Amino acid sequence: MRVYDCIQKKRDGSVLTAEEIEFIVAGVANDTIPDYQLSAFLMAAFIRGMNPEETAHYTRAMMASGDVLDLSDISPLTVDKHSTGGVGDKISLVLAPAVAAAGAIVPMMSGRGLGHTGGTLDKLEAIPGYRIGLSVDEFRAALREVGVAIIGQTGRLAPADKKLYALRDVTATVDSIPLITGSIMSKKLAAGPASIVMDVKWGSGAFMRTIEDARALAASLTAVGRHMGRKVTSFITDMNQPLGRMVGNALETIEAVECLQGRGPADIMELTRVQAGEMLFMAGRAPSFDEGCTLFDRVIADGSAFEKFVSMVENQGGDAGYLRDVSRFPAAAERIEVRAKQSGFIQAMDSVSIGIASIMLGGGRERSEDVIDHSVGIEVLKKCGDQVAGDEPIAILHASRQSKTQAALERYLAAVTIGPAAPAARPLVVERI
Ligand code: URA
Repeated sequence: MRVYDCIQKKRDGSVLTAEEIEFIVAGVANDTIPDYQLSAFLMAAFIRGMNPEETAHYTRAMMASGDVLDLSDISPLTVDKHSTGGVGDKISLVLAPAVAAAGAIVPMMSGRGLGHTGGTLDKLEAIPGYRIGLSVDEFRAALREVGVAIIGQTGRLAPADKKLYALRDVTATVDSIPLITGSIMSKKLAAGPASIVMDVKWGSGAFMRTIEDARALAASLTAVGRHMGRKVTSFITDMNQPLGRMVGNALETIEAVECLQGRGPADIMELTRVQAGEMLFMAGRAPSFDEGCTLFDRVIADGSAFEKFVSMVENQGGDAGYLRDVSRFPAAAERIEVRAKQSGFIQAMDSVSIGIASIMLGGGRERSEDVIDHSVGIEVLKKCGDQVAGDEPIAILHASRQSKTQAALERYLAAVTIGPAAPAARPLVVERI
């Protein structure tokens, strides 16, 4: 078999066989195919697409390129969730301990910030001492003892994706539904959960800008997961404005604590509740989705979800004193108000720009080697539909002396559209697939 022939076949719009796809992915993993041929293959796949069978073969081959964990001895009903990424999305920090407090085993492998989106691992690392790099044995022990662990992907998990993702990033081939499906699902499947809830976001802060694209991605993720013998439910959810009130690492961890203590913003609580309801149903802890939601309400109200978060953090080396007294998180050096330029209603928020404004403050990475300042970020005071008076504060930038504060302020202002009428309300959870 020759790589050239596979590239040519895909370039001409033909369907690749399982053997051809396995040959290419094996060549990625063994470093036997040069980057220029892989880039040509990726562009051909981007332009021509891949059908559901090809996408499933591609995903399976990427999953098999590294370690594949088997957690069935810990529980046959482990359950995880994955979000396609957003701004202010701290759902995992609330969801994982809450679902574990309700009796499910939650093996969660998360990522760092990608592009304008924040990363669960960066938020957890705002807690001094928290270790994301558990070994597989430590991960398994944490699941047995605590019922939940949130860690980074081990280096040996889907290594072919790591290489291909880096190439996609520089060859304009990221936003392809089959390539995203293979990338996300190969890692999720290798991490071993029996069931997965997918939070597929659409809108100004998401990789999928329209509901139709989000629906197509959700259908693809769901089909591949089911083809590989896992239970998968996808939710399509709104990402046209930041979730909650906080954007930035320590700020979001503090907001997650407030949610776990039943004091969180309504949008975060709603999104977490539906995903928890589904996860508890899938994990056999609740006889229906609705009863799963009720169980979530109970573990929030009785404090057991918060206590589970404390146990998880302590078990991974973090100083849980910060969770019991969030005033211990170091505050940013400066607070700068962003004031509305005119009066009216907030009609739209460009969440990508708000994510970028947070990165400019130092809350994310512009280059992979950048060090994050956990204390900086943005407090969003006004959201879509809110009425504002001219010169009224609409956000507070939490900045350090290193922050590009003026640029972030301008970026934030440009991201917010104020007009004479309130926009039509949009559902947060659009549909469940
Ligand atoms: N997240 C991933 O892990 N892969 C993609 O391709 C896109 C988002």
